[in-house]
Amino acid sequence: MSNYHIKHLEEYYQVYRKSVREPENFWGEVAEEHFLWRKKWDKVLSWNFKTPEIKWFEGAQLNITENCIDRHLLNRGDKTAILFEPNNPDEEAEHITYKQLHSRVCKMANVLKDQGIKKGDRVCIYLPMIPELSIALLACARIGAIHSVVFAGFSATALSSRINDSDCKLVITSDGSYRGTKSIDLKGIVDEGLKDCPGVKSVLLVKRTHAEINFHEGRDQWLQPLMDKADSNCAPEIMDAEDPLFILYTSGSTGNPKGMVHTTGGYMVYTAYTFKNVFQYTENDVFWCTADIGWITGHSYIVYGPLANGATSLMFEGVPNYPDYSRFWQIVEKHKVNQFYTAPTAIRALAKQNISFTEKHDLTSLKVLGSVGEPINEEAWHWYNDVIGKKKSPIVDTWWQTETGGIMITPIPFVTPTKPTFATLPFIGIQPAIMDANGQEVTGNQVDGRLCIKFPWPGMARTIWRNHQRYKETYFSTYPEYYFTGDGAFRDEVGYYRITGRVDDVIIVSGHNLGTAPIEDSINEHPAVSESAVVGVPHDIKGSALYGFVTLKETGESRIHDNLRKEINQMITEHIGPIAKLDKIQFTNGLPKTRSGKIMRRILRKIACRDMENLGDTSTLLNPEVVDDIKKNVL
Ligand code: PRX
Repeated sequence: MSNYHIKHLEEYYQVYRKSVREPENFWGEVAEEHFLWRKKWDKVLSWNFKTPEIKWFEGAQLNITENCIDRHLLNRGDKTAILFEPNNPDEEAEHITYKQLHSRVCKMANVLKDQGIKKGDRVCIYLPMIPELSIALLACARIGAIHSVVFAGFSATALSSRINDSDCKLVITSDGSYRGTKSIDLKGIVDEGLKDCPGVKSVLLVKRTHAEINFHEGRDQWLQPLMDKADSNCAPEIMDAEDPLFILYTSGSTGNPKGMVHTTGGYMVYTAYTFKNVFQYTENDVFWCTADIGWITGHSYIVYGPLANGATSLMFEGVPNYPDYSRFWQIVEKHKVNQFYTAPTAIRALAKQNISFTEKHDLTSLKVLGSVGEPINEEAWHWYNDVIGKKKSPIVDTWWQTETGGIMITPIPFVTPTKPTFATLPFIGIQPAIMDANGQEVTGNQVDGRLCIKFPWPGMARTIWRNHQRYKETYFSTYPEYYFTGDGAFRDEVGYYRITGRVDDVIIVSGHNLGTAPIEDSINEHPAVSESAVVGVPHDIKGSALYGFVTLKETGESRIHDNLRKEINQMITEHIGPIAKLDKIQFTNGLPKTRSGKIMRRILRKIACRDMENLGDTSTLLNPEVVDDIKKNVL
């Protein structure tokens, strides 16, 4: 029996048990049967959650692009690997076959080599959702360069801090990007960001919008002429299984974003295996994940997971509401999409629109619907299930994180009975644990607490770029010997998991992870601001919205508050990006603090949510008097 494709519930339990009892045999078999290795491993797994050190397939050698491209050339050479749907529906879609992908990846890899990029160098990719983005990831992987994709909605400051954190030598970007009716001056943002990045010696430019740009002689080059001249063959760099494949930044509760490091062998095995099972992908299906490749979902389930399976992966450049709210459904019909993977925030926004947007399109090709990024509420789940899936396409509510590399808790469609708002059962090989307030694991069902994972899995991030200590402190110190996720969870009477949300200071807005600390730092840079605190409040489309409490330096600040609000949001846009703008800003005379001076966000969160009855005892605060004032002026 092949372990690769789970077909019924009994088989799930059987394979799950094996994966937990004999993890090394289990993952060794999966890796052996389904991938191309230049050299087999000496040891499947060695691990220690104390130091922490995790190694999968140690001693093995491979190149992930041989697995994602070359090995498909014989039987799938003319099959579409990447199906590109542009922002503008009048522009033609592009079908890139595996053969064409091979040639384009090799050409770009050769261009990178000509620029002096070698194995282990870091390359920053700041591109819109166009084919060159996927090709750039693969070109880096081809030559063993470590890619660091920065979501092209981040600001110049956010870009430069990420470039500097990982010492990127080269940036791949474009003249601009399209988003619905707007075009965005990406090159301008890069120029601004690079003022602070002395280590970047070259910038490769993709022409997309044909906008006029400032060309920085000696640093900038158009990519296409270089590609035209480049050889269409490039021998893959042979990598160790534990060599880094990429760095991807994610927000933390405190401090700067963390550069999560994913390595080659385990990440490949895990993303490919989860892709195949969680979406029940079969040979001629068209798979569409609507995420941006700037996030982990795009890395794992637009690029690596699908391509490792020889799948057709659709990439969409645009937005769900351009030209109108039927755009997603029009694409499903046009390309006969079989698996559709999106975020609850998109589902909620689309569910609010007139039913005619969905009714006018044929959605019968859909077999599996996926959800990711935040808890899906009951109403959105039912709409997705009934209106889009016609109660025939199971919803896979997939819980996972940038750090986990791939899907961790999820139904397997047509195998696991679904239950609204529940991510249901651990994926094969995943051993979740729920911890109580005393830091002990709770056994049995009908329990809730904090979600941990107690055994390694191949896709997990191995460290934080050049900050292993922070990796240890963030994930392995709260509960010794366990990986702590930062999420809360409930386990029901049959062992299904429901994710209840973040238990730290990370707020998920429209499916984007945002740490409060960098937002507060940007607010505090405004010259009129003395201090601030940001909390999340429920929002019916975004899931959570940001509510800021801001104390000004001078009481009775004469400036008009609305202007100040605009300026504060402007600061945030400059430092992070528009996704982190505050929905509401309340000016306060002070922020509630403990006697040791720590801001009591718990109280502020309750006030912002208008849950005034449950503030608890505020008399022990350093400044209890501010609470009444804040309550009175809540927005
Ligand atoms: O809080 C969980 C939430 O998103 C967090 C991870 O965010 P990020 O690293 O950006 O990765 C998002 C895409 C994998 C988690 O800690 N989250 C993700 N998926 C779900 C979820 N919360 C509830 N249900 C989910 N299905």
